[in-house]
Amino acid sequence: MMINFDKKTEEVLDHYHKRMEEEDVLFKTVPEKELFSRVNEFLLPVGKDAALFLNTLIKSAKSKIILELGTSYGYSTLWLAEAARAVNGRVITMELSAEKSAYAENKINEAGLSEYVDFRTGDAVQLIKEATENFDFVLVDLWKELYTSCLNEFCTKLNSGAWVVADNIISPPHHTEEIDRYRKRIKELNLFDTILLPIGSGLEVSQFKKK
Ligand SMILES: C[S@@+](CC[C@H](N)C(=O)[O-])C[C@H]1O[C@@H](n2cnc3c(N)ncnc32)[C@H](O)[C@@H]1O
Repeated sequence: MMINFDKKTEEVLDHYHKRMEEEDVLFKTVPEKELFSRVNEFLLPVGKDAALFLNTLIKSAKSKIILELGTSYGYSTLWLAEAARAVNGRVITMELSAEKSAYAENKINEAGLSEYVDFRTGDAVQLIKEATENFDFVLVDLWKELYTSCLNEFCTKLNSGAWVVADNIISPPHHTEEIDRYRKRIKELNLFDTILLPIGSGLEVSQFKKK
């Protein structure tokens, strides 16, 4: 790891990394059909490289209000929260599953980062509509068919120069249609400078044009 986290954060990170190693083995041994029906058991994390990138970008850009779409079990949330603490910001993280959200909240608490994270449970499209905040940073990492509808909602709530990072642009390969729709929409809005980076599963990194 290239960052020295405090002991509590490092311990929680170790827990996630162990779980990720176990899940990697499962992914190689369990038939694809079975994996599909068990999808909610898995962390489905952005991975270490992408997490480090997100953490570094937030710290460098000093992004204060961070929106995460797709908390899952809280792996990416931990990295976002650690960056939020460093810039005196906060993370608003949205997840459909109350069970996953509760697990993530517990882990963030163990890491001593609770005061930097606001957990919101429900459908992200609706939750974005209801949000009263404007955002400096957005991580888009929920089910891929929701990327474009979420973008349509949060693009009216971005601060000048805000960063939007969307995961799974390159892999897994079975979401090409939804991903193409998202990338097309980012371009046609003409509100962003955007680039695809081969980090982790492929990140579309878009900056809301400065006013
Ligand atoms: C790929 S996982 C997120 C992984 C997480 N960002 C990480 O790196 O640890 C996608 C998550 O989006 C959640 N999700 C799916 N539909 C959603 C919706 N309509 N609103 C909010 N979250 C949703 C799923 O339950 C799942 O936990």
